[in-house]
Amino acid sequence: MNGTLPEDAALSAVADWLSASSSTVVLTGAGMSTESGLPDFRSTSGWWKQIDPRRVASVEALEQNYSLFAEFYRMRLERLHDCQPHRGHLILAEWERRGIVSAIVTQNVDGLHQRAGSNQVAELHGSLSRIRCHACGTGAAVERFMNGDRCGRCGGKLRPAVVLFGEMLPEDAWEHAVQAISRAELLLVIGTSLEVYPASQLPLMTRGRVVMINAEETALDHRFALTIRGKAGETLQQLERLLTGKNEEDGSEK
Ligand code: APR
Repeated sequence: MNGTLPEDAALSAVADWLSASSSTVVLTGAGMSTESGLPDFRSTSGWWKQIDPRRVASVEALEQNYSLFAEFYRMRLERLHDCQPHRGHLILAEWERRGIVSAIVTQNVDGLHQRAGSNQVAELHGSLSRIRCHACGTGAAVERFMNGDRCGRCGGKLRPAVVLFGEMLPEDAWEHAVQAISRAELLLVIGTSLEVYPASQLPLMTRGRVVMINAEETALDHRFALTIRGKAGETLQQLERLLTGKNEEDGSEK
């Protein structure tokens, strides 16, 4: 089965695959967090439509224009402070508890999967809320970065432990992601344009079926068993209803 089906048929097929799969992995991108109020990067309201990423999210920006770099990440941390995981994050955490999902591989740095209760999470691009010194690597409290402090150990520049453009991905997270995804029977890819290497290659590295759940078309859609054009939270809730046979709104059995 390739391409897109009428939505109900596609959702039923994915629900059947989720029930039958003994190893399901979920790969998420920024589109998984927009319903929590965080912008993504490349859709019309995305960060990179407002500012050139090289000016704020690169090693060069950190080293040559630290005040703009720090202002950008302090602003993203402030926005994150007011956000909560949405129903889609909570459903994925519930699916981990029920043994439906074995791991989440995320490009997101917002920590919302973990806050929703998911434990098996590989953060390919690091974490916004983990602060370290760019010079000596010593960790620091987020408040120190928010206050504009320097490293207490060497006086170096503090920064979030996110992967900046020009930096390598954390090896352990990448290895974990490749292991989980290559062995998966089913891979759900949710809310990502798949435009950033090497994360974009992961869906091509699995032996299993790949299902894409995304608001917009991506260049790799044609490579996947099924594409569901829709919102992450809504689609995950529809799948949850099919899996449990109950309507979450009123809790009635079907
Ligand atoms: N539901 C489903 N899809 C959504 C939703 C939603 N509620 N909101 C947005 N999307 C889709 C967008 O249409 C877009 O195709 O999610 C995708 C997000 O793509 P990007 O903005 O490119 O984000 P992402 O793929 O995660 O970017 C990868 O790029 O800048 C780097 O480090 C950054 O991790 C990020 C990486």
